[in-house]
Amino acid sequence: MIKNLLLQFDTDAWASSFDAVVAADAGADWLLPYANMRPEQVMGVVHGAMFTRSPSKLKHTAIFVGGSDVALAEQNYQQILATFFGPVRVSVAMDANGCNTTSVAAVECAMAGYRQLLGASNAATAEPSAWILGGTGPVGQRIATLLVDRGCRVTLHSRSLEKARIVAERIQGEVAGAEILTSAATQAELGHELPQQTLIFNAGAAGIQNLDEGTVDAISKSSGVLVDLNAVPPAGIARVGVQDSGRREEERLVYGALAVGAGKMTLHRAVIRACFERNDRNFNLREIAALSAELAASGNPTN
Ligand SMILES: NC(=O)c1ccc[n+]([C@@H]2O[C@H](COP(=O)([O-])OP(=O)(O)OC[C@H]3O[C@@H](n4cnc5c(N)ncnc54)[C@H](OP(=O)(O)O)[C@@H]3O)[C@@H](O)[C@H]2O)c1
Repeated sequence: MIKNLLLQFDTDAWASSFDAVVAADAGADWLLPYANMRPEQVMGVVHGAMFTRSPSKLKHTAIFVGGSDVALAEQNYQQILATFFGPVRVSVAMDANGCNTTSVAAVECAMAGYRQLLGASNAATAEPSAWILGGTGPVGQRIATLLVDRGCRVTLHSRSLEKARIVAERIQGEVAGAEILTSAATQAELGHELPQQTLIFNAGAAGIQNLDEGTVDAISKSSGVLVDLNAVPPAGIARVGVQDSGRREEERLVYGALAVGAGKMTLHRAVIRACFERNDRNFNLREIAALSAELAASGNPTN
């Protein structure tokens, strides 16, 4: 029986143990970890993966791109794609630091909550507005991209308006017609701005509280969804528990980091499994979102 081999291209000094465990649970029989991976080293290793097995067996080799330096991992991913030619290639998935699977799972949670609210009342509008705290990080940027893809009105929040503008302009350059607002509002200003926003995400750094109790009091009186991705105390959005999964906070449905994490884990495993089904899959943000939608349509949603 031919074995499923997963090459793990990681940007860090030690390839991620988290990604290795998920790979084993998702059907990788053998893991080949490559640490400190840089674009200039990619071609030789990819050639080794491309030219060793016959075309019909190539689906049993795949590459996972990871690491804590998400921008560098993205360069590694692009270099892998540039190395392939014709049908002689293997499947590849990019999910450095969980950026893609986490953002897709977060948006799925928010949309599940939004659909529930739409079913229950007329208070929510058909085109949700969304606000992303910590929107300049790898996860926040990807949540923004997924939301503008869906036609949502998005505001990116940062401690630096200039940083938010740079990120917003990059996403607008990639998504035709997208309009992303930017904000560096203070806590007091957020208390006035956020009640009008239907979907509110906290994608800020771990262990940082971005919305305090008073602001959450103000927000909770209007219909919508709160999603907090931070699992490290204190809560990124006050009173959101990591285990919350559609809990009611007055007029809001609330999702915490473990609820998002459960969907993220399911999706991460599904991506690896899909890599071993064919030799020509490229999984980056939008392909992972499409796989999540396929799973939902087939009755196996990720949340
Ligand atoms: N639930 C899950 O399954 C899961 C999986 C992966 C990640 N996560 C969580 O998702 C969140 C986003 O991940 P990420 O990798 O995108 O985060 P990140 O890059 O560490 O941080 C996101 C943003 O937070 C702001 N920030 C950084 N340090 C800060 C500080 N000391 N004080 C205040 N703000 C600060 C920065 O924005 P500005 O400089 O623009 O203000 C940064 O761009 C994190 O909380 C992470 O732990 C959850």
